[in-house]
Amino acid sequence: MEKKFYQMTPEERRQTLDLKEQTQEILRQMTLDEDIANNLIENQISEFELPMGLAQNFVINDKKYMIPFATEEPSVIAAASNGAKMAGNFTAKITERLMRGQIVFYDLQNASKIADKISVSTDEILSVAQTAYPSIVKRGGGLLDISTRLFDENFLSVDFKIDVRDAMGANIVNSILESIAERFRLWFPEEKILFSILSNFATESLVKVSCEIPVEKLSKTGNGADVADKISAASRFSKLDPYRAATHNKGIMNGINAVVLATGNDTRAIAAGIHAFASHDGKYRGLATWWVSGDRLLGELELPLPVATVGGGVKVLPKAQAAMEILQITEAQELAKVIAAVGLAQNLAALRALVSEGIQQGHMSLQTRSLALSVGAKGEEIAQLTQLLHQSKLMNQATAEKLLTELRNH
Ligand code: MEV
Repeated sequence: MEKKFYQMTPEERRQTLDLKEQTQEILRQMTLDEDIANNLIENQISEFELPMGLAQNFVINDKKYMIPFATEEPSVIAAASNGAKMAGNFTAKITERLMRGQIVFYDLQNASKIADKISVSTDEILSVAQTAYPSIVKRGGGLLDISTRLFDENFLSVDFKIDVRDAMGANIVNSILESIAERFRLWFPEEKILFSILSNFATESLVKVSCEIPVEKLSKTGNGADVADKISAASRFSKLDPYRAATHNKGIMNGINAVVLATGNDTRAIAAGIHAFASHDGKYRGLATWWVSGDRLLGELELPLPVATVGGGVKVLPKAQAAMEILQITEAQELAKVIAAVGLAQNLAALRALVSEGIQQGHMSLQTRSLALSVGAKGEEIAQLTQLLHQSKLMNQATAEKLLTELRNH
């Protein structure tokens, strides 16, 4: 019988594709162990590489860090490093680190019966949770809190707060919820459960990071106070206009996503939580806040960061392990503090550039190398073409192609 696509080896899957031999060869090149790659995801045919670089100058709670970023965007690492240099020591704080899960009922018959039974059965629910996932209890975590929220249209959410220690917690939370849902089905046979799942709106895993910058550090030409006022205005505007808020937050995510990815964490979970948090009062707003106090610019960023240092991609991907070794971090809360500081540094660098020389100057000079690569420059041509592009008025694909041809003809 013919193999199904999922039963094939990666080579067999590649061979089903109508591709140039050169493309087949590109897809064949792998550094990740085949067993890891082929078992981590489904229908695997290759791997996808991104450069990993180090952001420098970070000092967080008086400890120095070199921070690995995985990103395809030029200027992100340079901007973060600049931001960190201006900011000096970041202060980062976490008050709790819990994950939330939901069991959702729909077409409710009797909401108060459910709420009442749950409130008198806390001990029993806690013991179901312990049996469902004993290892998290052994590590000092587990279910801590149960509450209910009633919604329009006859929905009820039972919310669970669970200490998942240094894990991302999806498996822990979902296993516990499914066992409790089974018990609920026995208690409420007339009611209907829609689903049981972790929430990525991690309002119980907030990190707050702040910094304080003497305004003179914000400008080389001596108008630091003016730059500080404008950064503060840009931060206020990001709270008013969702069009600007999305870009303000995109800049913050440039760094956050790069570190989340480099450390093998779940980029989608973190992004979903952060963007939900950006609209937690009903309007989507910029996340980092800057204001001037005397001769100092003060910055603060609060956001949910339930990143993990154990389990999943973190443990399986060798480069993620290398990233953790570079960071010298074993605890999830410390990693979250570092990532929050990266977000604030990234925003500072972006806003400072935007309100002074503009983004294109710094951005384009770093983007030029990627433009040179995109038109096919190789080896020494990359630096030569980059220089020619800097001297030219236009910095686009067509100019780069023309200059590369001229370079080769000479
Ligand atoms: C570009 O990747 C990010 C920025 O647009 C962020 C911002 O505007 O704040 C520079």
